[in-house]
Amino acid sequence: MQNFRAIIRRRHFLGVAGTLSAASVFSKFAFAAAAAKPKVGIIGAGRMGGGLGTALAKAGYQVMFSSRKPEELKDLVAAAGPNAQAGTVEQAVAFGDIALLVVPYSAMPALAKQVGPVLAKKPLVFDVSNPSPQRDGAEGEKALQEGPAEYLAKLMPGIKVVRGFNSTGFASIPSPNLPSGGRRGTAMVGEDAKAVEIASTLVRDIGFEPVIIGPLNLGKYLYRPSTYFNGNQSPDEIRAIAKTIKP
Ligand SMILES: NC(=O)c1ccc[n+]([C@@H]2O[C@H](COP(=O)([O-])OP(=O)(O)OC[C@H]3O[C@@H](n4cnc5c(N)ncnc54)[C@H](OP(=O)(O)O)[C@@H]3O)[C@@H](O)[C@H]2O)c1
Repeated sequence: MQNFRAIIRRRHFLGVAGTLSAASVFSKFAFAAAAAKPKVGIIGAGRMGGGLGTALAKAGYQVMFSSRKPEELKDLVAAAGPNAQAGTVEQAVAFGDIALLVVPYSAMPALAKQVGPVLAKKPLVFDVSNPSPQRDGAEGEKALQEGPAEYLAKLMPGIKVVRGFNSTGFASIPSPNLPSGGRRGTAMVGEDAKAVEIASTLVRDIGFEPVIIGPLNLGKYLYRPSTYFNGNQSPDEIRAIAKTIKP
């Protein structure tokens, strides 16, 4: 089976080649893309990173949780099952075709030094983290003022960020269906087309419906105190609310 990196390279080639439009070539490629799931390096294995990683592992993704004390992640790995393992932050970033960033914003400057250049080479950094000055101090305040994606782009130039699940409580992750029926939506922002596509597939694969509400500068509406979203809305409700938001 082709691996995820080969598929991404091939997708780029197809985009450039343009003329390779035979339906059979495309459908074979689409099948391969559906079959191969990117490996996910997870930075931050607390309530939210642990919950999302567990859901991904159960959905067939190979995941590596990370912590500054990876030896403390044994129970999480055991609960997530055979597709999960644990390592240091550097190991998880090296392992992942893509990265999930689920930490307090106070951790970002250290992470930028530790793994920023490697993250910049990934097709997707899925940022679930929210800035909170009360919790994250000066870095939280800075990210709040600049906007989280803008803040991250300065710290880690070149990273392809998509933000999502920011307004979904960790307790909802194992329950992607609304009590009223139907999938929960998750409001997301992103600009890089390939990153948005990979992130959207990942969200669908764990049972949620991605709703891209716009570019990264709308990310400030995904978390408290400005959020319009609460993790308990249907995709249609999110789309309706998104129409009322102005950058
Ligand atoms: N909880 C939710 O329902 C929820 C929902 C949406 C978004 N979020 C956002 O997701 C992020 C994580 O929230 P959480 O509730 O999961 O927090 P948490 O349970 O406190 O976990 C935080 C994680 O961040 C890691 N971390 C902290 N500083 C680090 C550093 N310098 N380098 C590497 N890892 C570091 C910790 O790893 P160590 O093991 O190394 O300490 C820990 O695994 C926050 O930004 C939060 O706003 C949370």
